[in-house]
Amino acid sequence: MAALGSRDPEPALVADQLIRANLCGHDSHGIGMLPLYVDAASTGGLRVNAEPETIIDSGSIVVLDGQHGFGQVMGHRAMKTGIERVADHGVALIGLRNSFHIGRIGHWGEQAAAAGMVSLHFVNVAGHEPMVAPYGGASARFGTNPVCIAIPAAGQGEPLALLDMATSTIALGKTRVAKNKGEQVPEGTLLDPAGRLTTDPNVMWDDGPSGALVAMGDHKGSGLALMCEILGAALLGGDTIDPRYERSGSVINSMLTILIDPAAVGDPAGLQRDTHGFLDYVKQSALREGFNEVLVPGEPEARSRHERAREVPIDDATVGELNAAAARVGVDLLR
Ligand SMILES: NC(=O)c1ccc[n+]([C@@H]2O[C@H](COP(=O)([O-])OP(=O)(O)OC[C@H]3O[C@@H](n4cnc5c(N)ncnc54)[C@H](O)[C@@H]3O)[C@@H](O)[C@H]2O)c1
Repeated sequence: MAALGSRDPEPALVADQLIRANLCGHDSHGIGMLPLYVDAASTGGLRVNAEPETIIDSGSIVVLDGQHGFGQVMGHRAMKTGIERVADHGVALIGLRNSFHIGRIGHWGEQAAAAGMVSLHFVNVAGHEPMVAPYGGASARFGTNPVCIAIPAAGQGEPLALLDMATSTIALGKTRVAKNKGEQVPEGTLLDPAGRLTTDPNVMWDDGPSGALVAMGDHKGSGLALMCEILGAALLGGDTIDPRYERSGSVINSMLTILIDPAAVGDPAGLQRDTHGFLDYVKQSALREGFNEVLVPGEPEARSRHERAREVPIDDATVGELNAAAARVGVDLLR
């Protein structure tokens, strides 16, 4: 980061988010993103040290333009602004448009939850060719358009529940991780260029006509991805993924965030009591064949943070890519 000319607080915000993604078990959004960031900084797709521009500020509504700067800086600023506005208004709507990659969206839900706020996030991904096919389609028309909803815990530590998901069956980064490990992806997640289901992650990385990720949940996930594009980008004046907007190969995210102070709409103690009670009820469901337990959103990530507290495994191909990126900016190799 320093070798890219990045100045405080940028390197720490980027490092915090990427490393936390690895800790959460989302290697697709961890330090393996750095080679892409180095490339994007050198081609101009990512503007190091950019400052967000305020487009609208009317109290509980703020729209920021991310200026193609580091998403970790823009996302942090958007959430910080939103948390301040919720204190005054009980609710805030924060638009962040045209930022470079804002990474793991759960990170922004966690920032809001740490301040005691409920948050909802709808995100589009533009700046490059689409990669997710609409239900029934063989050609990609969406990015992996993520959705996130976070519920704060009392004491304002880790969220009580955190749903954070791509609207594709798997995130694109998971095909990179599988390719680097020489593994196949789960069935039903990828289409080859001819629109046939495949488990070969290389269809997303080979030169030539590209495959497509399958939208999650058939027509429902496809519809949710479509709404992320409209809410996250079209509503805020951000770039959508269709060819009217530049596709330079960069990763441009726009995000609509709604922040709610539980005290403004009800009883925060009741939210805690009833959420705990409800989550317990959900987890005590009789088990489906082949399953050992019922998990709630955010639980796999919490477990991963516990397991990875000592060591985060990074595969050799990712280390190789990191070393190559480091060499491009004149930094010594890692190992
Ligand atoms: N910035 C971007 O452009 C972008 C685009 C797409 C995805 N992403 C990020 O990619 C990351 C990975 O997304 P994903 O869809 O692959 O995540 P995932 O499928 O691993 O998890 C999705 C959600 O399901 C929950 N979950 C997982 N396993 C579960 C189980 N067995 N039982 C109950 N709940 C379970 C998780 O806690 C999480 O909330 C996310 O952090 C997302 O924000 C970012």
